[in-house]
Amino acid sequence: MSESIARIGVLTGGGDCPGLNAVIRAVTKAAIIEHGWEVYGIEDGLLGLIRNRMRVLTLKDASNILTQGGTILGTSNKANPSHFCVGTDDEGKPVYKDVTNRIIEHVQERGLDALVCIGGDGTMSGAVELVRRGIRCMGVPKTIDNDLMHCEVTFGFHTAVATATEALDRIHTTASSHHRVMLVEMMGRYAGWLTLYSGAASGADVILVPEIPYDVDVVCEYCANRSRHGKAFTIIAVAEGAKPVGGEMVVDRVVRDSPDPIRLGGVSQVLCEQIAERTRLECRATILGHVQRGGTPVPYDRVLGTELGYAAVGLLRRGRFNEVVVVQRGRITHVPIEDVANQQRLVPPDHPLIRACRAVGVCFGDRI
Ligand code: F6P
Repeated sequence: MSESIARIGVLTGGGDCPGLNAVIRAVTKAAIIEHGWEVYGIEDGLLGLIRNRMRVLTLKDASNILTQGGTILGTSNKANPSHFCVGTDDEGKPVYKDVTNRIIEHVQERGLDALVCIGGDGTMSGAVELVRRGIRCMGVPKTIDNDLMHCEVTFGFHTAVATATEALDRIHTTASSHHRVMLVEMMGRYAGWLTLYSGAASGADVILVPEIPYDVDVVCEYCANRSRHGKAFTIIAVAEGAKPVGGEMVVDRVVRDSPDPIRLGGVSQVLCEQIAERTRLECRATILGHVQRGGTPVPYDRVLGTELGYAAVGLLRRGRFNEVVVVQRGRITHVPIEDVANQQRLVPPDHPLIRACRAVGVCFGDRI
């Protein structure tokens, strides 16, 4: 690997989110226009590095993609280099192997001087392994969950908040017509940021986040009280990771070859039945699912993606490697990749927005 940079690779890993193309555009254009580097686009995240699937990106490739959702490079959240499924044994059981060596070979073969890894904590953990083996990496944090450590906002989050808020607003009108308790389940894994922000934005009556375990009796009393006081409907924004006091999160499925195999989902259905049974109110649950990850990024995410992509290239140019560009106190800065990998930034239960919501009568499912 040469000291100065002539050629970089860029990949998008993990679950997609709006704004990925804005980053790819910024990285590619800044690298070519400002520094004259060559850029390789790696297909399907770390999977493309394992399988040696990559192509040269030109200015034309990076043109006209700023507003597009998804990622022109494709992504995968099933490629864990140190635990990669290479086939099955005689009994049909999957066989896993550490394939990090393959990545090193492919990076060297292609002459990539550094990799820009756009991803969440899973991709950053993969990048840490590569860094340990001498590959120079620069991380750019993405996720609708907004749960990246040391980064106060990730691109993709505000678009997902807008999508979830619109869905909640729509549920509001039908809930009101039918005098129902309506539960809307949001993504976010173990963090409640998306539910908290969209719930607050749409004026949800109850907001249930993983960081504040709920008591179903409290939620039922709240719905019944509203109904007794002439508010014949209740909107409950519930995070997929919400759990009862002393209980567990609801697991939808296990994706064995993913860096984080657990997929959450279904808590809104469980709660829907419990509330209906205990209050005799009519209840319905809607799981928003992947609709929250799709669509065109809002202007904020396009701008943030552009700033982060540009900052990542600037750091590489200055000879800084193995960092993640992050937002802290509203400004772009950087932290070591190891500080971000395998960690989650959860909502503090005394977050100012939670206090503001409580002050306007929102129930968080706990006894206070
Ligand atoms: O991390 C992003 C995210 O959308 C989570 O909010 C959600 O729990 C998970 O990914 C869903 O993963 P998949 O796309 O594998 O179903």
